[in-house]
Amino acid sequence: MTVPAVRTAPRALRTGLLALVEERLDGLLAEEHRRWSRVDTRGAVPVDDVAALVRAGGKRLRPSFCLTGYLAAGGDPGAGTVVDCAAALELVHVGALIHDDVLDAADTRRGAPAVHARRAADHAARGWHGEARRYGEGVAILAGDLADILADRLTADLPPHCRPLWNELLTEIVIGQHLDVAVAAEAVVDPDLSRWIAVCKSGRYSIHRPLALGAALAGRPDLAPVFEGYGEALGEAFQLRDDMIDAFGDGAVAGKPVGLDLEQHKMTLLLALAVRADDRVRALVECPVWDVPALRDRLDEIGIGHEMEERIGTLVARALEALEDSGLPAPWQEELTAMAYEVAYRGR
Ligand code: IPE
Ligand code: IPE
Ligand code: MG
Ligand code: MG
Ligand code: MG
Repeated sequence: MTVPAVRTAPRALRTGLLALVEERLDGLLAEEHRRWSRVDTRGAVPVDDVAALVRAGGKRLRPSFCLTGYLAAGGDPGAGTVVDCAAALELVHVGALIHDDVLDAADTRRGAPAVHARRAADHAARGWHGEARRYGEGVAILAGDLADILADRLTADLPPHCRPLWNELLTEIVIGQHLDVAVAAEAVVDPDLSRWIAVCKSGRYSIHRPLALGAALAGRPDLAPVFEGYGEALGEAFQLRDDMIDAFGDGAVAGKPVGLDLEQHKMTLLLALAVRADDRVRALVECPVWDVPALRDRLDEIGIGHEMEERIGTLVARALEALEDSGLPAPWQEELTAMAYEVAYRGR
């Protein structure tokens, strides 16, 4: 896959603001650490868990899309509100990841132990009272909540016309995540619903809403349809790539476990499409207990990876179509094009 060349001017502008986002995150988390560790050393544990995950890296997609939406819409690079908003998006994401790893029983994240796993291991190693797993998951619930609360603080100055977008983004994560676990528990085979869940639990808060928020902050809410068209299509491609990484990727590169989706009966879009395409996959999925190796072999046999690549390619093309006639400045259209390829063809 040839990724189009990146023009330096838009990217350099965004990189400069991203550095401010990092400073904002570091400053806020350091201040919270000081504040709560004065009460008791244990007081800062949830803050430190959030800070460790922020510092462990991550691609910073949500802040990047927010800043890009803002700058492409002509926003003033010297204004601070967008930096706070972009930092808040990363915090919401970190909170969602902490909770997601509890929901999915995933033990690693960004190349390190997941919060619930690390805290449960501490509990077990020190022989504390009660159940280690419950303790670890309890701390993770609180750390994820704290990330959301800190994000809320950073968005206190969001102009009123941006509030509904922000609230929608937060609600979509919760409803999408609930449907993700509910559909897995009930083994619901419905590709349209799986597609909707992929977009809702992941694509919207990662791409579409951050772009729309950035544009709204720049005083260009009229760009919402452009970013909806681009974000919905690329958001689906983003989650499909995530499903592909889980199905065929390398955990050492991804920094998180792979192969969990099938083990946990996740009705991902990838699997739902395979069920629709192949009776043998359908029969395997209709068994109360899944034969994961057989399912994996069958997915290989029917070439599901190839089919997903085609679908991702179509989605990228659709996202790029949304940029045509958008009225966005050409360098920013090029930047959004480069970002689409980077997101859709990432390895982690
Ligand atoms: C992972 O998101 C969770 C999903 C929404 C699929 P990313 O792939 O953006 O993870 P980081 O931020 O780079 O760790
Ligand atoms: C997670 O989706 C979506 C959110 C964090 C809201 P996944 O469960 O597929 O993400 P990974 O694969 O664990 O990163
Ligand atoms: Mg997960
Ligand atoms: Mg999940
Ligand atoms: Mg996944």
